[in-house]
Amino acid sequence: MTNQLFEETQLVKPLTGKVAIVTGASRGIGAVIAKELAAQGAQIVAAHKADSATIQNVVTAIREEGGLIEPIPCDIAVLEDAERFVAQTIEKFGKVDILVNNAGVTKDRSFRKLTREDWDTVIDINLTGAYNMTKQVIEPMIAQNYGRIINISSIVGQAGAFGQTNYSASKAGLIGFTKSLALETASKGITVNAICPGYIETEMVAAMPDDVKEGIVSKVPIRRLGQPEEIAQAVSYLISASFVTGQQLNVNGGLYM
Ligand code: CAA
Repeated sequence: MTNQLFEETQLVKPLTGKVAIVTGASRGIGAVIAKELAAQGAQIVAAHKADSATIQNVVTAIREEGGLIEPIPCDIAVLEDAERFVAQTIEKFGKVDILVNNAGVTKDRSFRKLTREDWDTVIDINLTGAYNMTKQVIEPMIAQNYGRIINISSIVGQAGAFGQTNYSASKAGLIGFTKSLALETASKGITVNAICPGYIETEMVAAMPDDVKEGIVSKVPIRRLGQPEEIAQAVSYLISASFVTGQQLNVNGGLYM
């Protein structure tokens, strides 16, 4: 009897019954976060671009493992689209427990060449996108006295990077947003934290000029790029950590301390 109880306890995954929205879940770090949270039993609601060529791969991979994922297209830069996305999520699954604001883009150019369009695109998706999504989930989270909001910032928001004034501003903005929202919601069962990845092996980093990338890796104390799974680990930790809020968790191989 005791053995049977033990085995049954082992079958209960830590995020069973939780509903988790992950933005930018169609590839890169977001796809791996979605897979990890699904493996822990969460119902994933994946926000992806309407024309995404890769979301179906993520959906298939998660479902093959017995995970729960619902892909819903959403342009997070558009407030009304975020509203529709979260309304559909709540209609279908009843609630939102976890929001991972992960979606992000780069338009790298030295500031002298950076156009207003390059600026707006990156700020609208990386920073305003997080506002748009968070705005929709905050009241339902307060009403249920539980929420986990995790904003994927970047080492570039802390240390800057050549050719990334727009991206750096958006990622630094997410850190300030995290701290202020954490203060406002700490007494309501909600934690709000940022993760600051260093250079992670994704298409975004692969697109960097080889010499710039090699120069960066040579400065990383752990001497390699990070893996998306190492960011997903940090997300899991922040979901489980009930006394941690308003923090920026650096996952960068020691590149910035
Ligand atoms: N460091 C120092 N100087 C640089 C430089 C660099 N990395 N890149 C270019 N320069 C210099 C050039 O030599 C040139 O100098 P001169 O005027 O004296 O000739 C000047 O800056 C202008 O060069 P360009 O005309 O080539 O500059 P550009 O506007 O076309 O921009 C760039 C070049 C797009 C920034 C290119 O260097 C680049 O792609 N750099 C990598 C940017 C980067 O780090 N991206 C990170 C992506 S990963 C990510 O963002 C995820 C994350 O969160 C970590």
